[in-house]
Amino acid sequence: MIPFLDLHKINNRFREELKASFEQSLDTSYYILGPNVKKFETEFAHYCETDYCIGTANGLDALTLILKGYIEIGKLKKGDKVMVPANTFIATILAVIHADLEPVLVEPNPKTYNISINEVESAFTEDIKAIIMVHLYGQLADYESLKTISKQHNLLLIEDAAQAHGAISNSKNIKAGNLANAAAFSFYPSKNLGALGDGGAVTTNDKELNEAISLLRNYGSKVKYENEVIGYNSRLDDLQATFLSVKLKTLDSDNERRQQIAQHYLKEIKNPKLRLPFYDESKNHVFYAFVVELENRDDFINHLNKNAIEWLIHYPIPPHKQKALQRFSHLKLPITEQIHKRIISLPISPVLTDQEVNTVIKVINTY
Ligand SMILES: Cc1ncc(COP(=O)(O)O)c(C=O)c1O
Repeated sequence: MIPFLDLHKINNRFREELKASFEQSLDTSYYILGPNVKKFETEFAHYCETDYCIGTANGLDALTLILKGYIEIGKLKKGDKVMVPANTFIATILAVIHADLEPVLVEPNPKTYNISINEVESAFTEDIKAIIMVHLYGQLADYESLKTISKQHNLLLIEDAAQAHGAISNSKNIKAGNLANAAAFSFYPSKNLGALGDGGAVTTNDKELNEAISLLRNYGSKVKYENEVIGYNSRLDDLQATFLSVKLKTLDSDNERRQQIAQHYLKEIKNPKLRLPFYDESKNHVFYAFVVELENRDDFINHLNKNAIEWLIHYPIPPHKQKALQRFSHLKLPITEQIHKRIISLPISPVLTDQEVNTVIKVINTY
């Protein structure tokens, strides 16, 4: 069987270092916002080349706290509209709702699956105050065009970089996390940089936002038992922070391996029934997922199952068709709906062997 994602194999590469990190944490007994969180925040800010990084409990909270932080410092207000891609994981949209803002769902560019610039332009209204771009499947959204639009209309531009740790823009050599006003990351175990549990972070160069989010994530408190604002409990766990420091060291080489596998798939998969993902062969895509599209997905799934190849669908139901988001179900989003019906993700991970990659290729070419 070829696993979709062998998390045991991924983390077992760091077994001794992870055990040593655990023992260090056990011995120092700093469990909450201790030096390990500070250390990882400094390392990750340095990695993304941003001034600040604030660890949070998960990626959804990172996104929500960016929006709440902007409300706190007066740059957004309750009820403001925020453009989000319709074709995303539900968290992007939930964050907007949790921050008492109003999501405006925008169709993707079918070539990249990322938010369509034309659709952003045509859906723009004066009450829109921010855009969240998602670097879906690990490929950077067209941030330069979105930056131009944001400047023109005085909007905040936010990255949902939950799937794009380490992606680099090819024109300006800037990393995900440093492409806009603020960025949210998830360290969910399956991510390119994954913890051994939940975790998230915000990166930004905005001092005021950094201060607001640092307070909000910790009960609105800087000094123990003094609460300045209505805060939350959303701190990056100290133990997860030590694990992330270990795993950050191989993020770039892991991403290179993902790119290598993707290039191999793109070169060797020869089946007219499948549409392969767009890739310009640069570092702007870190292949969190390798997504192919085809008409008779159920047939293809049977073929993969028969040949013991695991697969996943990112995602089977679009957010506006989820029961939880019923109030958006009337929206006409045909591109998003079509994508969700046709896509399927193939195995890709830094621990997939050449032999496994070749087996996947062979199985697909005989479909
Ligand atoms: C695009 C996107 N945004 C946000 C999130 C939320 O991250 P988390 O699951 O850590 O809350 C995820 C991950 O699951 C994601 O894929």
